[in-house]
Amino acid sequence: MAKTIAILPGDGIGPEIIAEAVKVLETLQKSVNLDVHLQQALVGGAAIDATGHPLPTDTLELAKKADAILLGAVGGPKWESLDIAIRPEKGLLGLRSELKLFANLRPALLFPELANASTLKPEVVEGLDILIVRELTGGIYFGQPRGFRTLDNGQRQGFNTLVYTESEIERIARVAFESAEKRQQRLCSVDKANVLEATEFWREIVTQISKDYPNVQLTHMYVDNAAMQLVRAPKQFDVIVTTNMFGDILSDLASQLTGSIGMLPSASLDTNNKGMYEPIHGSAPDIAGQNLANPLATILSVAMMLRYSLDQPKLATAVENAVSQVLRDGLRTKDIQEEGQKAVTTREMGDAVAAYL
Ligand code: IPM
Ligand code: MG
Repeated sequence: MAKTIAILPGDGIGPEIIAEAVKVLETLQKSVNLDVHLQQALVGGAAIDATGHPLPTDTLELAKKADAILLGAVGGPKWESLDIAIRPEKGLLGLRSELKLFANLRPALLFPELANASTLKPEVVEGLDILIVRELTGGIYFGQPRGFRTLDNGQRQGFNTLVYTESEIERIARVAFESAEKRQQRLCSVDKANVLEATEFWREIVTQISKDYPNVQLTHMYVDNAAMQLVRAPKQFDVIVTTNMFGDILSDLASQLTGSIGMLPSASLDTNNKGMYEPIHGSAPDIAGQNLANPLATILSVAMMLRYSLDQPKLATAVENAVSQVLRDGLRTKDIQEEGQKAVTTREMGDAVAAYL
């Protein structure tokens, strides 16, 4: 039976990069009869403009019934002055929490061809292969109470709450340990246990769960040190597991090790491996509509979708190989361009990947 994929382009460069990922999916439909049914819907600012809400009911319904979701990016200056409760980002956060996509996998993998595109020395990043497992539906992003208030002394205050329950930590820890088992059996849990109770508790529970995974070597690191170690000697890491906000920050940092934030895909999974797939970069309003954006993070997100939600590991590898091939051929979008290289457009990059498939 055909699997339904909800296609949510969103804002900024979202529609352009999604068009290239759809090109890849349609190529697989034709060439190997991949049995998928693609259905588009609105999210983020585009949905606000059309319906007044960043996550319209129709979109949420489609996302719930789909087998997988492919999302571009949300947000942009046009909607920044809106109330925080109805900003484009709420569309994305609403999808994550409504669909209980608590496990966010963000692999930072360096394609050998891009060793010189990183701002770090090639020898520091060559062979880099890190998996960041970010908790995605808890922590300070969702903790209550939150909001704005006026104190007795008349001062206005903004506030958020960092909370983690035992079961939230346990389930993300298990995903991380299981991922580490399949890789190099090393897991580094990142927290701020020296200052924040919620993450002292995080460390306690992760340590407790580690007893079930005796062949995985568990270490702990404070987030400030982790940020420093990631740029100093990133290859010391295999799998990193961390909270929602620390994962947000460290995954942007890690993306730069691989040459460009335009290269990093992600998967957000629930307990049944139903997933939403998106590049980790944002909507890049500064280059939107110019056919300049790098579609590879989104195309690599399709590969993750094939692997985790569509049970097509061979096709996943084929897509990843096609990306390697175009890089080997010297095709570069502007973000990964090196001196003397000619940059290709978003569409040319997508065409080249599809041609290899
Ligand atoms: C990400 C993004 C989102 C986040 C924003 C757009 C809400 O930065 O997916 O990393 O903070 O999680
Ligand atoms: Mg982010």
